Amino acid sequence: MSDVSGVTDPESLRRRAVDALLRARERTAGLTDCVDDGELTTQHSALMSPLVWDLAHIGNQEELWLLRTVAGRDAMRPEIDSVYDAFEHPRAERPSLPLLAPAEARVYAADVRGRALDVLERSPLHGTPLLDAAFAFGMVAQHEQQHDETMLITHQLRRGPVALTAPPPPRPTGPAEGVAREVLVPGGPFTMGTSTEPWALDNERPAHHRFVPAFFIDTVPVSNGAYLDFMADGGYADARWWEPEGWAQIRKHDLSAPLFWHREGGQWLRRHFGVVEPVPEDEPVLHVSWYEADAYARWAGRRLPTEAEWEKAARHDPASGRSTRYPWGDADPTPQVANLGQRHLRPAPVGAYAAGASPLGVRQLIGDVWEWTSSDFLPYPGFAAFPYREYSEVFFGSAHKVLRGGSFAVDPVACRGTFRNWDLPVRRQIFAGFRTARDAPDTRHVPGAGVS
Ligand code: AVJ
Ligand code: FE
Repeated sequence: MSDVSGVTDPESLRRRAVDALLRARERTAGLTDCVDDGELTTQHSALMSPLVWDLAHIGNQEELWLLRTVAGRDAMRPEIDSVYDAFEHPRAERPSLPLLAPAEARVYAADVRGRALDVLERSPLHGTPLLDAAFAFGMVAQHEQQHDETMLITHQLRRGPVALTAPPPPRPTGPAEGVAREVLVPGGPFTMGTSTEPWALDNERPAHHRFVPAFFIDTVPVSNGAYLDFMADGGYADARWWEPEGWAQIRKHDLSAPLFWHREGGQWLRRHFGVVEPVPEDEPVLHVSWYEADAYARWAGRRLPTEAEWEKAARHDPASGRSTRYPWGDADPTPQVANLGQRHLRPAPVGAYAAGASPLGVRQLIGDVWEWTSSDFLPYPGFAAFPYREYSEVFFGSAHKVLRGGSFAVDPVACRGTFRNWDLPVRRQIFAGFRTARDAPDTRHVPGAGVS
């Protein structure tokens, strides 16, 4: 598994790093071997790279960090570096670059991997910040898994015959009655972020105290059925619910439903990995922008949770006062507690994964769908870019909104209670949904008022 928390002996670290790297490569192979070379080199959407770019970029980043930086080796193919630098070439430009052909890209990535495993085999795994706790190896495994989610988004955007299938996720079990619609998270301080999770990325650090006033939060993500009520009530036609930029976007592009939805004979259908199906009313809504999430919340008389509220709901254990790694505690995710890692190619119906609930009973915080928060992507107090400014620092500011919790498409190695994702508020192709929140009266100072 991906958890390296508390593990310090080099042999266990090595095994964990090898496991994470091998699992990532298996998934990369699955995402790139299921289509032909034409499909790999085509750009399926201007928002995405050709799949073959992701494949060689994965190898190139691994070469940069594990072979050149950690092991001090020379560049294997200096002429390709600029082609796979995400900052030199925006996605729209990538199809016109001199990309390695699919066979070459596979050989290059495999060659890098063979050498990286040799480096890992010989490394003391301590002594420098990149080596301590095998951080650089964990970072490279997370990078590949992040691109595996990116490649799955490309598959969702792609037209043509079905290339990927997976069994459906589990349905909710047990009595649905007794599951509250929302829970009260009492006001007070909690520990946000981490200074101890060995493979946490720079933007998750350091741990710090945050005071969060009392709030209510949905126990489950907003469902397609609930979102359909917003649509049926004229939500897309009423400027009252929308931020001005969001209203401008839906007017300009004539949007009236989530991405991939269309209406046919009075019924809403969606295209999902090449299959057209009726919109499943009990699944979390997917492929909505931050503006759509925000508008829905306002229509419902509620709001999006802040990032701090989301993390407090996910990590704060009221019994111990401690922040745990996950809603269910400190143990690594298992298939019983969360829908992660592309085992299923869709979110589970709302109310699933009771075993993964937080102490207060909030479900599906980890896995299923990324959840938009109301917060801008900003550094924590004491943030230090590591090991490169272009992972997080250059994205800080009010242009990007934070998403939390991970989707069905992300691997456990790149998902935890502290993990932060971000995107532009207009984006709809990512596997994102949301849950809502509202202010609560602050019960701490009210004499006689109990929090029950
Ligand atoms: C953290 C998902 C926003 O894909 O832009 C991949 C991850 N960074 N390669 C992205 C990333 C460099 C990043 N996100
Ligand atoms: Fe990348």
